[in-house]
Amino acid sequence: MAWEKRIRCEALKARVMSASEAALLIGDGMTVAVGGFTPSGCPKAVPLALAEQVRAGRRPLRLTLLSGASTGEEIDSAWASLGIIARRLPYMTSKTLRDAVNGKADAPVAYSDVHLGKLAQNARYGCYGAVHVALIEAAAITEDGNLIPTTAVGCAQTFIDLADRVIVELNLAQPAELEGLHDIYAPQDPPHRDPIPLTRVGQRIGRPWLRCPVGKVAAVVISRAEEKPRALAREDAVSRGIAANLVAFLEGEKAAGRLTAGDVPLQSGVGSVANAVLLGLKNTEFSHLTFYSEVMQDGILDLIDAGKADMASATSLSLSKEGMTRLLGELERYRDKIVLRDSEISNNAEVIRRLGVIAMNTALEADIYGNVNSSQVNGTDMYNGIGGSGDYARSASVSLFMTGSVAKDGRISCIVPMVSHVDHTEHDVDVLVTEQGYADLRGLCPKERARRIIENCAHPDYRPQLRAYFEAACAATNGAQTPHLLDRCFSFHRRLRETGSMREQEEKER
Ligand code: COA
Repeated sequence: MAWEKRIRCEALKARVMSASEAALLIGDGMTVAVGGFTPSGCPKAVPLALAEQVRAGRRPLRLTLLSGASTGEEIDSAWASLGIIARRLPYMTSKTLRDAVNGKADAPVAYSDVHLGKLAQNARYGCYGAVHVALIEAAAITEDGNLIPTTAVGCAQTFIDLADRVIVELNLAQPAELEGLHDIYAPQDPPHRDPIPLTRVGQRIGRPWLRCPVGKVAAVVISRAEEKPRALAREDAVSRGIAANLVAFLEGEKAAGRLTAGDVPLQSGVGSVANAVLLGLKNTEFSHLTFYSEVMQDGILDLIDAGKADMASATSLSLSKEGMTRLLGELERYRDKIVLRDSEISNNAEVIRRLGVIAMNTALEADIYGNVNSSQVNGTDMYNGIGGSGDYARSASVSLFMTGSVAKDGRISCIVPMVSHVDHTEHDVDVLVTEQGYADLRGLCPKERARRIIENCAHPDYRPQLRAYFEAACAATNGAQTPHLLDRCFSFHRRLRETGSMREQEEKER
């Protein structure tokens, strides 16, 4: 049988069971930690079997769910729709789960939005409590019981190390040839951590498998579940405009001698804008590009095919269905150009800073001083989360944020006086890019930044309003460092100013 060849450890052949039997190992109140990162490499069969048991009313279940990043719809969406998720970390992209997080479902979800690069260490420190079950998708099991991951790594090694029990989903729909693509490296915990010995994007510093003691494996489930990758977001005039402006900035960096292709790796996030940027790079003079990122999108494959990119390091193959078919169909051709790492390493501040990564992330809105909101619509409703954007923005040699200048068909300006929620402060935002242009903020004081952002990045329809706000704020604050009219931004600030400190206010009310 095909699966027997993939389980090279004799002892584990005896632990093969059905997805429904394995799902029964997950009990109410447990913390379940899943491998994978984005839909890629996530377990599928056991989560669906568990959802089926809950749907059929055979068992009530409320769980804490940990993962590397977002998961596939078999987990976040299926479980959220049944109220299975009580607590969720560190990131999501599912609309069903988003609605539950924002109070639009019967069962509430306590969602903790965490820098992806910090999740594994926090888990090891016990910040999230015990991990009862680790649910890991594998392409094969080695002679010693170690696991060959599939299309992503995420936090799988830490989850296996912490879990009381491991359930392995051996997915025969994932090619066995994935073996050798991964580089698993477990850093020691501070304060006695050795330097992570990664000095080049493509360097391998670990092992090609996840260490997994045979005694911990409670079940091996044979699956043939196809991965359901995200559809590639469509390019439009705005994403193409942003891409063109971002490439213009990079070309300026090259002309200034600060960017030598091949030496400075790029990080790019997910989505239409990020992919348009990658496509934009195809038509430039840049060659020998390298990527040190958390996800690998189709655009990187295109750049490799065009001979423009030499190497990509990521924790996940976040490819479209077509991209995944292309990669897996010709794996040998790409093998020496791709390495998949633990997210703790792909998103590691020490490594990102050492390599001098240029980070390109997306904002929902930015303010005239350069603060960025990437996660909360109107400051209250969670969209996805901060993801890895903070890991890169804080440690990058140049941190770029991009957004369309307007949202909702022009009814909302994405450049505002003060962002309604801050994910990335002005100190972590070097360059802001919209389809209108880019604002290089390095070396500028707040008032200079405001003028540049309004003139270069805001939509022409909103520039007069933003200029009026800025000028009125300058006049009202007599040349203060960061002019604001707080009563126009948030009434909360007015309450503080009129009544003194919160404590005084509370005392008065008592
Ligand atoms: N005010 C209100 N709503 C806004 C808005 C604004 N300023 N800007 C965008 N929106 C709305 C859009 O209309 C859209 O609404 P919809 O879901 O009803 O269609 C939604 O917010 C998402 O906007 P969109 O332009 O489609 O976003 P995107 O797909 O390019 O994603 C982020 C943008 C910021 C949400 C996404 O990049 C993200 O989650 N980033 C954080 C994680 C991250 O950066 N990871 C990077 C490392 S890989």
